[in-house]
Amino acid sequence: MRIILLGEPGAGKGTYSAELVKKYKIPQISTGDMLRAAVKAGTPLGKQAQEFMKKGELVPDSLVIELIRERIKEGDASKGFILDGFPRTLPQAQSLEKMLQSMNIRLSGVLKIEVAKAILLKRLTGRRVCKGCGATYNIDTMKPQKDGVCDKCGKELIQRPDDKPETIENRLTVYQKDTAPLIEFYENKGLLKRVQCEGEYDEVMARIFSALEKTAKV
Ligand code: AP5
Ligand code: MG
Repeated sequence: MRIILLGEPGAGKGTYSAELVKKYKIPQISTGDMLRAAVKAGTPLGKQAQEFMKKGELVPDSLVIELIRERIKEGDASKGFILDGFPRTLPQAQSLEKMLQSMNIRLSGVLKIEVAKAILLKRLTGRRVCKGCGATYNIDTMKPQKDGVCDKCGKELIQRPDDKPETIENRLTVYQKDTAPLIEFYENKGLLKRVQCEGEYDEVMARIFSALEKTAKV
């Protein structure tokens, strides 16, 4: 199964990907996570990406396209993958199409995660991530067992630097301008499936699994 999770910042792409990884045993490929790792490691890519990410702007297409080109060739992605946060612009989507064609593989589907803006804002301001393993929590909706401490590895939970209110607003504006056109792009290809992702976590996950069973060859 090769799917794209498409949705606004805070829609839940990372959270739902983690469940899909467990169920389908295919990797989550998140350009956001890869870029944050590059920033943390201080690599040349990380140094270039940092300024864009801090402001909630997109990192240039050429950089992320190269990241993905290398990543989808890795062995663990040979049976499928979940793309989280890529593609995010029309040029990225067109490059992905060419990459997959050259590998003689096809996308199974694109899930558009639908969440109202007020809920996105609440999810983003309440999000906390583990400094150690990167696990995601929410102080309102998905609390850790002990405040400020990761259930999985015991490290400290922190707020992502781009989850400040002014940066969140810019990320949502950038999404509308650059990423929302992908909805029509994939709709025209007959690949898009919209999934309502408001409400209790278990209900949302059930809706996502059901949409995937219908649209993708698992
Ligand atoms: P990226 O890391 O991709 O961020 P994003 O798209 O803004 O999305 P988020 O990670 O903020 O949200 P999410 O949908 O994963 O939500 P989550 O699961 O955490 O990108 C960051 C930056 O990197 C970009 O701004 C850009 O600079 C750069 N970048 C990345 N990819 C790029 C690309 N392709 N091109 C150019 N630049 C790129 O959930 C949010 C919260 O909600 C969590 O707290 C969670 O616990 C909670 N939650 C989720 N679902 C539920 C539920 N059902 N009920 C209650 N709470 C829930
Ligand atoms: Mg994410």
